[in-house]
Amino acid sequence: MGRDGSEPCAPSHIPVLAAAALDWLEVKSDGVYVDCTAGLAGHSMMIASRLTTGRLIALDRDPASVEIARNRLAGFPNAVVVHGNYGELKAVLAGLGVNEVDGVLIDAGFSSMQLEDARRGFTFQQEGPLDMRLDTSSGETAEEFLARVEEGELARILKEYGDVRPARRIAAAIVRRRDYGCMESTGDLATAVCEALDFVSGQPDEIRTVFQAIRIAVNDELRWLQKGMEEAIDVLRPGGRLVAIVFHSGEDRVIKNVLRDASRPRRDLYPDGRVRSTQPPRVKVLTPKPVKPGPAEIARNPRAKSALLRAAEKLEQGGAAA
Ligand SMILES: C[S@@+](CC[C@H](N)C(=O)[O-])C[C@H]1O[C@@H](n2cnc3c(N)ncnc32)[C@H](O)[C@@H]1O
Repeated sequence: MGRDGSEPCAPSHIPVLAAAALDWLEVKSDGVYVDCTAGLAGHSMMIASRLTTGRLIALDRDPASVEIARNRLAGFPNAVVVHGNYGELKAVLAGLGVNEVDGVLIDAGFSSMQLEDARRGFTFQQEGPLDMRLDTSSGETAEEFLARVEEGELARILKEYGDVRPARRIAAAIVRRRDYGCMESTGDLATAVCEALDFVSGQPDEIRTVFQAIRIAVNDELRWLQKGMEEAIDVLRPGGRLVAIVFHSGEDRVIKNVLRDASRPRRDLYPDGRVRSTQPPRVKVLTPKPVKPGPAEIARNPRAKSALLRAAEKLEQGGAAA
């Protein structure tokens, strides 16, 4: 994409809800913005192209995405891309000498590039190793996770993170295969789901949600999302905007709850229940209901179908709208 933001940013990548995200961020040409999920730099390039004296800090947990985003943002001197987890946003920004910013964008989950690369193990449609790590430089792979997880815990994860209905049956089949020493590839995991549901041909819908649930667990995605949202609110200056785009109900619950809590007065209580002090609300929620893509965007980019965007504005110390 050129500085005017006019060209498509990558053949296989269209940033989701891009126009809405930019509108809600209200990018000022001299502001400091953080794209917490640089990915293929789709949103980042759009933000960077609106800046003059402002600055864009883009981060990603995935070293390969950092590399790509760096290349794509090479023409924007006021953009920097760093390897980091948005759950540690304050530390990442402190490392760059930044304490306060005008806007933060989170576009959660994983990118088309990560999904389409069979070596990453995110897709059940291609044979690959059971890796599934967003950060390939550290942490446990899906294979290592499945090698140690207890059956009951796995059933809970499938239900909670994937809304998988026959969670116990599928967990039992995965653990059975694992105990036979046959849980090393995406094909092994997909086969376990088919075995659990007695599928002899074709693929049950549950494979997608089982992969989703295990990916979320391997990367501890919901915990980092909650921490990232809380840290984003901390670093915003009054009037600053926070925009979050998520792709399933578990993630949306986290966003909704963090914004709901931050938009209410917070009471510190004595042990006997009396109110010690009351803190004013920290944000104003700008989207009472999540913003969804329209039919034209979904037709252009089917991956956008389940996207939900929520936005909030940081309030002045006293709680008044900035
Ligand atoms: C949906 S993609 C972002 C696409 C990007 N907005 C674009 O337009 O190209 C999500 C990205 O977030 C990254 N990611 C996920 N969790 C993260 C975290 N906790 N901290 C930093 N990056 C994360 C993934 O590695 C992935 O590259």
